[in-house]
Amino acid sequence: MTPYEVIRRKRDGGELRSDELRAFLEGYAQGSIEEYQMAAYLMAVFFVGMTEVELATLVDVMLHSGVVADLSNVPGIKVDKHSTGGVGDKVSLVLAPLVAALGVPVPMMSGRGLGHTGGTVDKLETIPGFRLELGLDEYRAQMERIGCALIAASPEIAPLDRRLYALRDVTGTIESIPLIASSIMSKKLAEGIDALVLDVKVGGGAFMADDAKARELARTMIAIGRAHGRTVVARLTAMDRPLGFAIGNALEVEESVAALQGGGPPDLRAVTVALAAEMLVLGGRADTVEDGIAHASAALDDGRALEMMRAVINAQGGNASVLDDPAILPQADVQVVFESPRAGRVVAMDTRAIGVAAVELGAGRATLGARIDPSAGFHLTVKPGDTIERNQPLGTIHARTEALAQHARERLTAAITIGDGRATQLPLVGERITG
Ligand code: URA
Repeated sequence: MTPYEVIRRKRDGGELRSDELRAFLEGYAQGSIEEYQMAAYLMAVFFVGMTEVELATLVDVMLHSGVVADLSNVPGIKVDKHSTGGVGDKVSLVLAPLVAALGVPVPMMSGRGLGHTGGTVDKLETIPGFRLELGLDEYRAQMERIGCALIAASPEIAPLDRRLYALRDVTGTIESIPLIASSIMSKKLAEGIDALVLDVKVGGGAFMADDAKARELARTMIAIGRAHGRTVVARLTAMDRPLGFAIGNALEVEESVAALQGGGPPDLRAVTVALAAEMLVLGGRADTVEDGIAHASAALDDGRALEMMRAVINAQGGNASVLDDPAILPQADVQVVFESPRAGRVVAMDTRAIGVAAVELGAGRATLGARIDPSAGFHLTVKPGDTIERNQPLGTIHARTEALAQHARERLTAAITIGDGRATQLPLVGERITG
């Protein structure tokens, strides 16, 4: 079947047989199908969706496009967490060392920023010297030695997802349930985990903004996990406002350090602790979610999570003094406080628009292979429901130039609605979905 016919059939709502889709995907992986043809196919999937057989084929081809890591030498139940992506979502940076400090091995492979959302890899790369591109042998050895690794999905792991992920990032083809579910699950199945906790974001800053779609995404990923013999639990968490105060790579690392020291924004801590509790139950280190919450809170407060992060940064060549002095992170030349144009209440935050503004500032990529500005971003000090005086600071913009900061100020002023009405908010940690 020619690539043209594959794209056309999908575009017109038809189903591709497993062998037909496999040949198309493998052709792309091997270079006989062009980027523009794959982009057209992805756009067709975006509009038409995928059948169960097509989805299973896509997961299988992505999973086996590289190596499936074997962590059987690492004792214990290996549990990872993956987020469907959000604005200010730096949970992984706190959660992985926290759960590992409590005895559950956490082999965490993460991605770069996608669309308007940030990526754990871009954030961690702002730590001087920190290497995320570990080879699989090094990854396995580190897991055996300290029980935690925070790495980029290595080129050996699901390389087809790596290419599709980067292509989707710049072609408007992210917000698709089968594409997100297969992307996340193929990587997770390849990294050697036994169980997985999914942080499924819901609200305007999530890829699946509405509840029903977020639930469908969760169920799709759980079903893929089950079909491959893994236990998967999902929590819906709020993305109708940014998580924490910091948005932007180095700024988010700084905020994560505060959380690892037992402080940081309360919403970041609450989501992290809730997800940690699920991981501790799956990993056999807590009998109930309530026990897990108590263990996780204690390990943030008494420094065990921080010390595990130190071990991870040291193991991966980073400068661990960032945990004592975050000022060694890249700092923006221009830092501008922006103020509320009126008195009132923060009624709503257009979280997606805030994420897009961060990308425009340089915290994310507009084209394949673009370089990000590690120091760019915002520190927003307000949340929906807060009462605001006229000219009260709403946050600080960190930018490379005055012009970029001015543009961001306009974006943010439009994205944060100050009014007289009530603010409605989604529950920070919502529904638990197990199947
Ligand atoms: N995270 C991923 O790994 N892939 C997606 O498609 C979306 C979020």
